[in-house]
This record gives sequence, structure tokens and C-alpha cells, in this order.
Amino acid sequence: MAETTTPVYQPGVIVKRYAVFGQPIGHSRSPFIHARFGEQCGIALTYSAIDAGSGTFPSALEAFAAGGGRGANVTLPLKGLAATFCAELGVHARRTGVVNTLTRVTGGWRGNNTDGVGLVKDIADRHRIDLRGRRVLMIGAGGAVAGVLPALLDAGVAHITLVNRTPERADELSDRIGEPARVRTLYWADLPNTGAYDCIINGTSAGQLREPLQLPFSIAAPRTLCYDLSYGRAAVDFLAWGRAAGCEHVLDGAGMLVEQAAESFHVWHGVRPDTEPVYQALKRDLERG
Ligand code: ATR
Repeated sequence: MAETTTPVYQPGVIVKRYAVFGQPIGHSRSPFIHARFGEQCGIALTYSAIDAGSGTFPSALEAFAAGGGRGANVTLPLKGLAATFCAELGVHARRTGVVNTLTRVTGGWRGNNTDGVGLVKDIADRHRIDLRGRRVLMIGAGGAVAGVLPALLDAGVAHITLVNRTPERADELSDRIGEPARVRTLYWADLPNTGAYDCIINGTSAGQLREPLQLPFSIAAPRTLCYDLSYGRAAVDFLAWGRAAGCEHVLDGAGMLVEQAAESFHVWHGVRPDTEPVYQALKRDLERG
């Protein structure tokens, strides 16, 4: 179990422990973001990246709690598993069974999902793109996609079409959301026949695996927003596809990462940090590689 720590120490202050669990986790920028938030808000904390897969997560989380861990984020591949450790679930986590934020409560954990709110804040508040009435194509049906669907629906999109390499997973996710009038599924092979969407969101892990997605240009128009839930290298291929398709707005998930972190920070500390300077610092950090 590898652990890297980005501590924010203040003399004479009890330091609170937080972490992100996942696998792979070495690339995670969450320690960087939470360290900046802690400095900004004057909260002494450590935020570590802890490498744990499905097999090692239960014991790693137990050890973290025993060592004074107060809260954790979880990422690939642990978002569904983490929900099973929770005595209480927040509203978005309950709708999807997917958790990205754990908070220590008496004798257990409370689970929230802040990914969807982070995505909507990035698109609507930072980039000033109105999501209301938008026709959304969502590519993928894993934990990342499940986590953002409730907030997108709450933001007023017209409908979301789920397309996934394995169609049964899209059907299962659509059933779990339980809004058949607004969440529908489509076979990948039928993409060339559906026309252009207002918003295309890539929620697959294909970019991380450097496997190209086979997408027809006919699903995009100049006004289409192309958004990748990943950031950095993992988003490069999809965003290049969006530019080649002539789309006006092409965004990676760096802003969503900062916004979901701010929501988690608020859950844990009751304070809402100013995300813009941290977003700008993250972008500079990502550009340096
Ligand atoms: P996460 O928590 O990141 O969502 P996941 O649950 O493993 O991780 O889901 C990964 C998603 O990326 C799935 O939708 C997967 O499609 P399958 O359900 O068919 O596996 C999708 N994915 C991964 N590699 C892909 C590729 N090369 N082409 C298309 N979809 C891909």
C-alpha cells in the first residue's frame, strides 16, 4: 500500500487526516487541491493518496480510521464498493449507489457523491454554459457516469442518452436511475443514426487506457459541448475528437475535479473554499505535466 502525503502543518494545531483511495492513484491531483484549500481556509490537515484496490480497500480504510482518519475521497475502482461501507448515504449517493466522499461518523461512515455537483458547477458557473433543456449524450456506464447523472438531471437537462460498449450496463444504470422519460439507452452501432447532441460527455476510462473511442462526427455540431470527465493526458484523445468535429466548447474535467473537491471540503470542514485560484494553479501544474 503506497502512501504519499502533502501535509499542511500549523504549529500547536491538531492536524486532521484525510485521504483519497484508489488504484491507480499516483497521478491523483486531489492531495494538491486539498492542501491549497487547507492553506486558503487556515485549516491544518494532511491529505494523502493511498493506493488500494477492491481487495485491499476494506483493511486500508479500517487502518486509516484507526489512525484518526476523518474523511476520504474514493475513486476508480472503489466508488460502488465504498457505498457498501456506509451507515448513511446522502441523496445523490442513494440514487446511484456510488460514493466519492466518506465522512467518519460515530462508529462508521457517511457517504456522499459530490462528482455531479462538481460537474454542473464547472459547466454552468465557471464556463457559463446553460445546461437547461440540453440533449445530453453520455458515453460510458461505470461508476464515474453513475455518480454524475442525478446532478445533471437536477440541473434541468432535457434528457440523457446512455451509450456503452457493453449495452447491458447502460440498461442496468438507466433502470437504477428510474426516470425512463429522461434517461434512455442507445446501442453504440446506432450512434450514426441519432443526429447531433447539445452536450457529449465522455465518462469512459478509454482515455486512461489510451484506447481510441470510435465515434461518428455526425453526433456533434459546432454548438456542441464536448466534456471529458477525465483530465490531463486521459482526456487528450476525446478532446482532439471534439475539436476535429468542429465543436466550439471542448473541456476536460480539471474544473470538475476542483469543484467536487470543494464540495467534499465543505462536507468535512463546513467551509466553502474559493476554487478559482486553485483551478488556475491546477491547470498550470497539469501543463507542466
Ligand atoms: P469508472 O469508475 O471510471 O466509471 P468502470 O466502472 O470500470 O470505471 O467503467 C469504465 C467505463 O469505461 C465503462 O463504461 C467501460 O465500458 P464497458 O462497460 O463496456 O466495460 C468504458 N470503457 C473502457 N474502455 C473502453 C473502450 N476502449 N471503449 C469504450 N468504452 C470503454
